[in-house]
Amino acid sequence: MAFKGINETEESYVGGRLLSPQEIKDDGEAEKSLRPRYLNEYIGQKKVKENLEVFIDAARARGEALDHVLLYGPPGLGKTTLAGIIASEMNVNIRITSGPAIERPGDLAALLTNLNENDLIFIDEIHRLSRSVEEVLYPAMEDYSLDIIIGKGPSARSIRIDLPKFTLVGATTRAGQVSPPLRDRFGVVMRLELYTPEELKSIVMRSADILGINCTESGAYGIASRSRGTPRIANRMLKRVRDFAQVIGNGVIDEEITARALKRLEVDELGLDNIDRKMLMMIIKNYGGGPVGLETLAAAIGEEAVTLEDVYEPYLMQIGFLSRTPRGRCVTPAACAHLGVAMPQNNANSAGNVQIKQLSLDENQ
Ligand code: ADE
Repeated sequence: MAFKGINETEESYVGGRLLSPQEIKDDGEAEKSLRPRYLNEYIGQKKVKENLEVFIDAARARGEALDHVLLYGPPGLGKTTLAGIIASEMNVNIRITSGPAIERPGDLAALLTNLNENDLIFIDEIHRLSRSVEEVLYPAMEDYSLDIIIGKGPSARSIRIDLPKFTLVGATTRAGQVSPPLRDRFGVVMRLELYTPEELKSIVMRSADILGINCTESGAYGIASRSRGTPRIANRMLKRVRDFAQVIGNGVIDEEITARALKRLEVDELGLDNIDRKMLMMIIKNYGGGPVGLETLAAAIGEEAVTLEDVYEPYLMQIGFLSRTPRGRCVTPAACAHLGVAMPQNNANSAGNVQIKQLSLDENQ
């Protein structure tokens, strides 16, 4: 079967946006060359790294395949990179594919029967596997065997094929959409978090070093603090700022050229672009600051609801500009202050409502 490159599915491409956390064509080989290969080169995700190290050491000492691992969290945080690192640390081959690329059970069977002992198979967007493929995957994950039906009608019979032991690393941005039986078959489930600006600064410095780019610490911090907690965005931004440094500067990425470049690219000091601002302003101006339902908001600004949820919201929530309530999305006073507009009065996050919440809490005491 043909392996569709991960992230090449149409839905996961957000129009070449500088701040898209999804992989875009332009990232190409450069992104791969920047990927750390071993855990000690990987910056950030401290808890995930420390625990993975233990599991890898233990499996290696026993000479066994590592247990199946499910990685979840927003796009661009290094799920594929971690899968590659696990394979390098375990000294095994990695096969990379994605949920939508495995269309039929036979596609999965072809993949699994071609693995060597202890190999790693990485399935990105694992929540998009079809039901029939998932059903073939269960016995493969649990007992390293495949139950294949041969023939049709009354002459159909089932045969069992033994598989080599393998590790499945599944990745998803939507843990809630992984079916419970599939989720239960992962021995290790790990959530990746957005990176801090300090961690991103170290990543930018490392990438600049690999790419031979002259970048000062404050220049790297300027990029890091506008990268929405996402290494993929930081590395892409580094390359764009390098272009400005080369053409309108002296070739060195410092604080000043970073600020000038990103101003020209319409990215503000917190890493918000026009679409973020449009979304926040829409909630403020048209919906009194919220709450507004996700679908309504998506239609109002002409984006897909899943795009808002996966791409825009994690960072806006992380910096405290947006909150999710059972009745919909609300902007916060911090968002209004950043945009230089007054906080609408009857917003669910405004002081009045906070007080109501506290009062009702007191009532329950
Ligand atoms: N490049 C992209 N992600 C990285 C990470 N977490 N550590 C080091 N380099 C990276």
